Amino acid sequence: MIELPVRPELVGEVPYGAPQLDVPVCLNVNENPYPPSEAVIAEMAAAVSRAARSMNRYPERDALALRNDLAHYLGHGLTADRIWAANGSNEVMLHVLQAFAGPDRSVLSFAPTYSMYPEYARNTHSRWITFPRRDDFTIDPEAAVAAVREQRPDVVLITSPNNPTGTAVGLETIIAICEAALGVVVVDEAYYEFARTGTPSALELLPQFPRLAVSRTMSKAFAFAGGRLGYLAATPEFVDALRIVRLPYHLSSITQAVARVALAHAGEMLAAVDQLRSARDDLARWLVDHGLEVADSDANFVLFGRFVDRHVVWQALLDQGVLIRETGPDGWLRVSAGTPDEMSAFKAALLDVLARREDDHE
Ligand SMILES: Cc1ncc(COP(=O)(O)O)c(C=O)c1O
Repeated sequence: MIELPVRPELVGEVPYGAPQLDVPVCLNVNENPYPPSEAVIAEMAAAVSRAARSMNRYPERDALALRNDLAHYLGHGLTADRIWAANGSNEVMLHVLQAFAGPDRSVLSFAPTYSMYPEYARNTHSRWITFPRRDDFTIDPEAAVAAVREQRPDVVLITSPNNPTGTAVGLETIIAICEAALGVVVVDEAYYEFARTGTPSALELLPQFPRLAVSRTMSKAFAFAGGRLGYLAATPEFVDALRIVRLPYHLSSITQAVARVALAHAGEMLAAVDQLRSARDDLARWLVDHGLEVADSDANFVLFGRFVDRHVVWQALLDQGVLIRETGPDGWLRVSAGTPDEMSAFKAALLDVLARREDDHE
């Protein structure tokens, strides 16, 4: 192996990513399992064809038409100048850290949480700080405020509903953190559309807190993971700060065109959300009925356990063609809500594993 002079903190690191395996049942990355209809596929193809006619030109750099559509979708009186968009909310979050964190600055979040955040922190040379959630994965507002006052992070990331636990965070907790924070606060609502009816969005708080941003993605409920489109709502000044750090022409004309088609068919793209919420609730009940511990979920997945050796369980499911995710605190596994057939396959495989490993769950 040639030794390359990579940054010391990258030595020995491996690229992030869930295994992409060719198996019959993929329940590992919280996708919406339902593809677009033939009619929407045809419109997407036509939009790509139109965009291809000017493929010799750079795309619209500020993606204003798309940002306008996203503002319209979110409502809350938002306008294009208050929306930012990038290739997945992963890139949006990287822009946030590039603009507001960095050397001698810090980012705080509440563990266990999304495993990419520490990588964004590492890649932007920011200090990564975690504060523990309670045993039930909720955030203790008083302890969180004390941690924010003590650590004075430049960026606070609150994930609601949280990945990998599914836990939604109440607005009172977000308000308390916003009031205590000296830096910016980002509420990552990647899974918001799956939250139980009546769960308020942090979008409601934007008029009150100029340093608050709310990020969303089209990868989950919107059934658009392959399109790579994440977005964020904040003040125009916050968005302007993100525009400074983005790469020029970061959103391809194809991405913009296809995302606009998806947004024009928002009702249809989101049609399976209710079904997936029911699948999640049924799955959670089924896991409890089978003696497992389940974290309360407002997302399209369920964290369950606890296993003495979760890897053995993960592997045994995979051996039966069911891929789930080995993530979260030790002893827990995460499974996405899928189609009825996928849920049956998962349950049958897990029953088999549990029967064979009667002694393995605590
Ligand atoms: C909490 C959370 N935020 C952000 C993302 C990133 O999503 P994307 O980059 O596909 O928009 C994910 C993906 O799993 C997630 O779980």
